[in-house]
Amino acid sequence: MSLVFQPSANIARLKESATLAVAAKARALKAAGHAIIDLGAGEPDFDTPAFIREAAEAAVEAGATRYTATEGILPLREAIAADANRLLAHGAQITAAEIVVSNGSKQSLYNACVCCFGPGDEVLIPTPAWTSYFEMVELARAVSVPVYGDEANDLKVTSAQLAAAATPRTKGLMLNSPSNPTGAVYTRDELTAILDLAAEKGWWVLADEIYLRIAYEGGAQSALEVAKTRDNLIVINGVAKAYAMTGWRIGWTIAPVAVSKAMTAFQSHTTSNAAAVSQHAALAALERQSEANAAVNYMVKEFRQRRDAVVAALAKFPTIRYVHPAGAFYVYINVAGFRGAADAGAAFAAAVLEEHQVAVVPGSAFLTPDWIRASYATTESVAVEGVTRIARCLTGT
Ligand SMILES: Cc1ncc(COP(=O)(O)O)c(C=O)c1O
Repeated sequence: MSLVFQPSANIARLKESATLAVAAKARALKAAGHAIIDLGAGEPDFDTPAFIREAAEAAVEAGATRYTATEGILPLREAIAADANRLLAHGAQITAAEIVVSNGSKQSLYNACVCCFGPGDEVLIPTPAWTSYFEMVELARAVSVPVYGDEANDLKVTSAQLAAAATPRTKGLMLNSPSNPTGAVYTRDELTAILDLAAEKGWWVLADEIYLRIAYEGGAQSALEVAKTRDNLIVINGVAKAYAMTGWRIGWTIAPVAVSKAMTAFQSHTTSNAAAVSQHAALAALERQSEANAAVNYMVKEFRQRRDAVVAALAKFPTIRYVHPAGAFYVYINVAGFRGAADAGAAFAAAVLEEHQVAVVPGSAFLTPDWIRASYATTESVAVEGVTRIARCLTGT
């Protein structure tokens, strides 16, 4: 008897990551010889700093080739705790027992979703939001509840909007500042109001701080700097974006010990430990602070220059609306009404790729179809040329 694949109930509603799908299409066009300006990328265009690569080579030679503890090597967890303690405003110092190292912050987020949320639970997701939040919450068999931010507030949500969207089934919320896709950064007051509400309601807060160090106007606040309690707080971070280490796949959670134990048990049955060599590379990134700060500051300065150049290029087209990009490396542009399409972002992304050879990500990937995301994690001249073509396509000039 031949077996016809029917997706299981677990994945029946799963969609391919739209951001990765655009990248694949742009790659295919490039491979076919087209000169594509790729503003779809979600990763720094820099190489991992040399001192980190060298530390990884040395670690391999010293024998970092075997399984490690599921939750990660102790020196790395201690270095993560020490790094986080520098931000901490209230409460007891963070210890290694509160840290679980995973294969990227994506896995850390998924571990947290599976361990904290389950069937029937509702999870508030400030929207637009990174495409994977919705899928992860649904894979945990919980219900994702998008809460839309106002354009006047850079598409950020307020604590009042979250309170209005809550029901007795609300179990938690996802926070992401600086934001992918918008580049918006929550202020200290905004973050405090949201964390206070979550603490009062007993909601889990999954604070995804993967872009924390990439912020341009006075920096971004960590939840650790403002939270009055960590009892309901899970901070997710990693080395991918700030240290240009996307391929090394190291992320982590800082969470109450009981949650950390549950996530370790879950990870022990799914992927075990993150790659030993990558853990040693991340250890160098966190421990060798002066070299790391020099490298991170250089990359952030570069991103800032590109951000300024992209904003200057867009300013030449005063009718174009976009979210002020205060962090990360994205600019979120409104394309509502483009050629009368219902999904304006998808229609625009297709048109700008075919007619102007620029790859962007349609906003439907982030549940806001009237928008598109352009990444400036590329050289300044390419980023400026790309957004100028976007602006021409949008304004028909
Ligand atoms: C908001 C956000 N969180 C998490 C991740 C995942 O990062 P990592 O490479 O650490 O898994 C990404 C990657 O694009 C992201 O944009």
